[in-house]
Amino acid sequence: MSWQGKAEGMGHVEEVGPSGKRGFGPKLKAHLRRFWWLHLIVFIAFTLILVLSLIYAAFPHISQHDINGSTLTIQSLVLSSPTPDSFHLVQTSVIGNGSPYHPNLDAFNASLSLDGRAPYAYIEIPQVHATAQATTVVDQDVSITDLDAFTDYNIAVLQNEDVKLDVKGKTALHEMRFPTNTVNYDKAVTMKGLNKLTGFNVTNFTIELNPEPDGTNMVGTVYIPNPTVMTISMGNVTFDNFIASTTTRIGTTTLTNLTLFPGNNTIPMRSQINQTLVLTQILENFKDGMLPIDIVGNSSVYDGQHLVYFEKALASVTQHITLNVGMALKAVGLDPSSLSGSPP
Ligand SMILES: *[C@@H]1O[C@H](CO)[C@@H](O)[C@H](O)[C@H]1NC(C)=O
Ligand SMILES: *[C@@H]1O[C@H](CO)[C@@H](O)[C@H](O)[C@H]1NC(C)=O
Ligand SMILES: *[C@@H]1O[C@H](CO)[C@@H](O)[C@H](O)[C@H]1NC(C)=O
Ligand SMILES: *[C@@H]1O[C@H](CO)[C@@H](O)[C@H](O)[C@H]1NC(C)=O
Ligand SMILES: *[C@@H]1O[C@H](CO)[C@@H](O)[C@H](O)[C@H]1NC(C)=O
Ligand SMILES: *[C@@H]1O[C@H](CO)[C@@H](O)[C@H](O)[C@H]1NC(C)=O
Ligand SMILES: *[C@@H]1O[C@H](CO)[C@@H](O)[C@H](O)[C@H]1NC(C)=O
Ligand SMILES: *[C@@H]1O[C@H](CO)[C@@H](O)[C@H](O)[C@H]1NC(C)=O
Ligand SMILES: *[C@@H]1O[C@H](CO)[C@@H](O)[C@H](O)[C@H]1NC(C)=O
Repeated sequence: MSWQGKAEGMGHVEEVGPSGKRGFGPKLKAHLRRFWWLHLIVFIAFTLILVLSLIYAAFPHISQHDINGSTLTIQSLVLSSPTPDSFHLVQTSVIGNGSPYHPNLDAFNASLSLDGRAPYAYIEIPQVHATAQATTVVDQDVSITDLDAFTDYNIAVLQNEDVKLDVKGKTALHEMRFPTNTVNYDKAVTMKGLNKLTGFNVTNFTIELNPEPDGTNMVGTVYIPNPTVMTISMGNVTFDNFIASTTTRIGTTTLTNLTLFPGNNTIPMRSQINQTLVLTQILENFKDGMLPIDIVGNSSVYDGQHLVYFEKALASVTQHITLNVGMALKAVGLDPSSLSGSPP
């Protein structure tokens, strides 16, 4: 039975047109009057379905948009136990999320690369509840997947005041009862770099006229400022020392078990210097006893293995310092001015 017949059968008074036949308009009105509730239900249901479909359809876009808008800040980064193809990483980051939604992100595999370059490693970013400020800690052994890329990264860190890193991956996002959504996590992170170790200095040294068994004949302290949030273990690091702006090599300086901590580092140094050569230079070219020296990284050895990615980075910057050799010589009883044969 149709709704029309039913309505008539229930004795409803129908409006009748001039022709004696009932018009469509009046029929519709009558129908609406009687079945408004049915229409309301249909309307509400339809609207709900539409709105929900729109939200469901838009949800992936909204969540991707929020992921795009989130920030990533590296608070601390500790690189330890380096080998030629791996290192241990403990990295604390904060994911900033300005969105009112606080979804859960699954743990995911993220690539690390220097601004726009090939990835040098992959790390597992742990599962995170993306509140306004969510802290994540990565603590794992990391394989270096592209040595050239990692070398370029280390050169960039050593050379620059700021370094741009890309952290990229794909993860699943869960928000309330929405279907799980795959989002691209693609963040550019700007970190402070070592800025050519600006401020590097030999702050104190003494000359030993009788060399130690390993040939060390000058010991002292170097000062290395580290403006970054990074702690970096570089093993035993050696530097070549030259008379400034020449290729006259006067010796080697070793920093044993060098670990650069954030802030000011004061590190013991041991040098093997050609004292004859230094003395000759002082007597002939630097009569005031102030010896200008260029210091260039040469090797980084950890547990007997060369870390080429650090070596190339350290070799890419030159430190210019001036050593008060005259004073150091006087301290061991040698007065260069008396040796030079000039009148006292
Ligand atoms: C997210 O960012 C990527 C590029 O980083 C862009 O292609 C994409 O359209 C953005 N998506 C949304 C939803 O904003
Ligand atoms: C991470 O992704 C890279 C590239 O897709 C892959 O080679 C690597 O095995 C993945 N690592 C893990 C732990 O899944
Ligand atoms: C380096 O250290 C020495 C000794 O402490 C000091 O005299 C000199 O001024 C310092 N050089 C710089 C550039 O700070
Ligand atoms: C320099 O080193 C000597 C010997 O290690 C030490 O006695 C002296 O206090 C140091 N001077 C400075 C300024 O650090
Ligand atoms: C240098 O580090 C190695 C291993 O990390 C350790 O065995 C050694 O005692 C350290 N040497 C010095 C002089 O600190
Ligand atoms: C590091 O040394 C510089 C001066 O050489 C000083 O201004 C700064 O406060 C020191 N920083 C820390 C953390 O000690
Ligand atoms: C030290 O330098 C002098 C003068 O340049 C050179 O003749 C001598 O061979 C050098 N000694 C060593 C051990 O390199
Ligand atoms: C380090 O020094 C050795 C010996 O002087 C030299 O053969 C080598 O090329 C140097 N390496 C770098 C990276 O400067
Ligand atoms: C650094 O050299 C010292 C002495 O040769 C050695 O005992 C130590 O294990 C080396 N450190 C590293 C990290 O290889």
